[in-house]
Amino acid sequence: MAELIYEGKAKKLFTTDDKNELLMEFKDDLTAFNALKKSQEAGKGALNAAISSKIFGLLTQNGVKTHLIKTIDETHHLVRKVQIVAIEVVVRNIATGSLTKRLAIPEGTVLPFTLVELYYKDDALGDPIISDEHALIMKLATRNELQVLKDAARKINDILRPFFASCNLNLIDFKVEFGRTENGEILLADEISPDSCRFWDMNSGEKLDKDRFRQDLGGVKMAYEEVLKRILGALK
Ligand code: TMP
Ligand code: ASP
Repeated sequence: MAELIYEGKAKKLFTTDDKNELLMEFKDDLTAFNALKKSQEAGKGALNAAISSKIFGLLTQNGVKTHLIKTIDETHHLVRKVQIVAIEVVVRNIATGSLTKRLAIPEGTVLPFTLVELYYKDDALGDPIISDEHALIMKLATRNELQVLKDAARKINDILRPFFASCNLNLIDFKVEFGRTENGEILLADEISPDSCRFWDMNSGEKLDKDRFRQDLGGVKMAYEEVLKRILGALK
């Protein structure tokens, strides 16, 4: 029988009959600022499951190894069981969010090169930004793994930036998580969705991601629906 083994802010993980596979459920819960702000949006889980499934499929076609085995239903993915690396890898093309807040780099600045940052995945500490050396000292990953994570994050950006441009969406920044299989292989895990990316409409600059929730802009579900519609259109 399926047993709940993990519940995070936006997803649940269940065991399956196969010890190497898990069922990942996308929840309708929306949180921001380390869950200080909470809400629910009926249908959000299904939208993210659909978006993430399409994006992981596109990445697989382009040689990125992911945990996704298949989509089971509207809100469930069957995934490889991995041990999640406790590092959130953030990739930034344009300055906004915490980069602007922390360093006063003006909002909307096109960065001279793609910036890759590491954050320690620890809710109690508020996911602090860390350097490679912090990650090594804390044994979050080996030197080789850090290189693999950063190379994979850049490759994902190189695939997704032009893809989203073809959807008339500017991929501003995004966060990815990785996991280790039993034999130490690193796979892209978690999700790639408007919860974990920032998308600005290429023409109007309108925000079509979780910033609508973070900043109380309204129309969260409509924005996620629009992102899915554009992805499906571009993949036709
Ligand atoms: P930030 O500007 O708030 O640091 O966010 C950078 C990117 O990472 C942005 O696309 C949103 C995403 N993100 C998450 O997916 N989870 C998080 O907990 C945070 C803080 C950001
Ligand atoms: N993911 C974090 C939270 O759920 C922060 C954020 O995305 O803004 O609280």
